[in-house]
Amino acid sequence: MDQSDLEAVIAIEQLNSKSPWSKNQFLHCVEWTQVIVVSNAVVGFAVVVAMGDQAELQNISIHPDHRELGLGEELLDYVMRELPKKIGQIYLEVRVSNFSAINLYTKIGFAQVGQRRDYYATDYGREDALLMSRSLC
Ligand SMILES: CC(C)(COP(=O)(O)OP(=O)(O)OC[C@H]1O[C@@H](n2cnc3c(N)ncnc32)[C@H](O)[C@@H]1OP(=O)(O)O)[C@@H](O)C(=O)NCCC(=O)NCCS
Repeated sequence: MDQSDLEAVIAIEQLNSKSPWSKNQFLHCVEWTQVIVVSNAVVGFAVVVAMGDQAELQNISIHPDHRELGLGEELLDYVMRELPKKIGQIYLEVRVSNFSAINLYTKIGFAQVGQRRDYYATDYGREDALLMSRSLC
C-alpha cells in the first residue's frame, strides 16, 4: 500500500466495518498494510503488524462486490508468506458473530486460543471476541 491507495482503503473500511478505522489509523499503518488489486482497482486490504517473533492481523477487508471469490484467502496467504522468517506465530481477534471471517481463518489453519468477553460494541450491547492463532513454522 502507498498513500495513493488510502482513499480506496478507507472507502472499503467504511462499507465493511461496524467501527471503521480512521484515516489516521491507516496512515500509521501504511508500512504494515497490503492491498489486493483487480483491474487496477484496490478491492481489499490487510494490516499485519509484526513485533519480535509474533505478528498480529489487525484488519482485513474485501469490497462487498468482490467477496467469496477467494481474494480474502489469497491476500491472507500472501501476507503470512511475506512475514520475516523469525515470526513464528500470528494472532488475531474476531467478533464471535463474524462467521465469514471465522470460517476463513479456520480454513487456513487458525485455531481459537482464547475468548474476550464483551470485547466489541454492537447495536444491541456487547459481544465477545475470539482470539485465534496460527503457527507460521
Ligand atoms: C472475511 C472476508 C475478508 C472474507 O473475504 P472473501 O474474499 O469473501 O473470502 P474468500 O472468498 O477468500 O473465502 C475463503 C473462505 O472464507 C470463508 N467464507 C468467506 N465468505 C463466507 C461466507 N459468506 N460465509 C461463510 N464462509 C465464508 C469460507 O471458508 C471460504 O472458503 P470456501 O470458499 O472454500 O468456502 C470478507 O467477508 C470481508 O471483507 N468481511 C468484512 C470485513 C471483516 O469482517 N473482516 C474481518 C475482521 S476480523
